[in-house]
Amino acid sequence: MRAVVVTEYAHPSKIPLTLNAPAPKAGGNEVLVDVYSAGLNFYDILQCQGKYQYQPPFPFVLGTEFAGRIAADSPIPKGCPYKPGDRVFGGVSNGAYAEKVAVKWADVLPLPANMTFDQGAGLFVTWPTSYEALVGRAELKSGEWVLVTASAGGVGIAAVQLAKALGAKVIAAAGSPAKIDVSVKYGGADHAVDYSKPNWQQEVLKITGGRGVDVVYDPVGLIRDSLKCIAWKGRAIVVGFAGGKIESLPLNLVLLKNISIVGIHWGAYTTKEPAHKPAVYGALLDLLSTGRVKPVVYGDIYPLERIADGLAALEQRKTWGKVVTRIRNEEAAEKAKL
Ligand SMILES: NC(=O)c1ccc[n+]([C@@H]2O[C@H](COP(=O)([O-])OP(=O)(O)OC[C@H]3O[C@@H](n4cnc5c(N)ncnc54)[C@H](OP(=O)(O)O)[C@@H]3O)[C@@H](O)[C@H]2O)c1
Repeated sequence: MRAVVVTEYAHPSKIPLTLNAPAPKAGGNEVLVDVYSAGLNFYDILQCQGKYQYQPPFPFVLGTEFAGRIAADSPIPKGCPYKPGDRVFGGVSNGAYAEKVAVKWADVLPLPANMTFDQGAGLFVTWPTSYEALVGRAELKSGEWVLVTASAGGVGIAAVQLAKALGAKVIAAAGSPAKIDVSVKYGGADHAVDYSKPNWQQEVLKITGGRGVDVVYDPVGLIRDSLKCIAWKGRAIVVGFAGGKIESLPLNLVLLKNISIVGIHWGAYTTKEPAHKPAVYGALLDLLSTGRVKPVVYGDIYPLERIADGLAALEQRKTWGKVVTRIRNEEAAEKAKL
């Protein structure tokens, strides 16, 4: 099968596509999934260079998030609700950039019928991160003001849509006019500011009538800057450090406005709070199935042969929404069956 196999640490641009990689074998509680589309993540770029916190032994297939169909030759373990051909999305610690992946059936969810495989490719990590951040950690309430930084990015645009669906008033903050347009057009943000400009927080204060925002959702590393426009008793969520630097914070800023700083690490729920995950995915599937939120896929969809270009675009901050590699074409797969 075709797969992005890492045999030694290298930048994605230096990893050739393997055309005859061995197909994975399913373990006891695993199913085999034919991968149609897979989501690109910044940590893939780190992992293939040996710079990520989790490094599988060589050789390994890169990629974590995917959408596809349960394979015709998949075993169906006891208790598994799926059958061959079912449309699913899911996640693995590595192995998604391939025509086929072996995955624990508990880490697979049904892909809503109104969703394409490209849209499903980024659902497993990106969306629950933003949902749990806003609902579980910040306890967002309808009518509150939310500021989302990197609002056109993968987790950011999901946060904008979710906050809107939860009844909040959303201010998107992005680094270019094009990304501001994306945040409003595809995210549905009520207002948007360009945070590459100095004193952008003044604009946020003006929009909120001087009050500031109740919740800050920050995947960039802009908590300290955002506290200039947070409201009394506001909650700031630490989501990530896409800007490349782990922030530190003088704690008097926390005291002065009675604020809370909360973190989100979605991946850790698997070991720390597995019983909570179904509630989050259940709520998300409801919102996705009814069309109240809709995954945003970056305009260029990369075939597996060009995945390095997709990862380069992600690395160079050129992308918006979820960047996806399309591994199988649904139409071609249907024709091949006839
Ligand atoms: N906590 C969790 O459980 C969890 C889960 C998933 C992801 N994350 C983290 O969240 C962060 C964002 O992930 P994502 O998937 O949304 O990434 P993404 O799609 O690549 O978006 C990141 C955005 O950050 C902004 N940015 C600001 N400074 C940047 C820089 N120096 N280099 C690159 N981008 C920069 C860019 O938007 P502008 O151009 O508009 O500034 C970029 O579009 C990552 O750090 C990721 O590890 C955390």
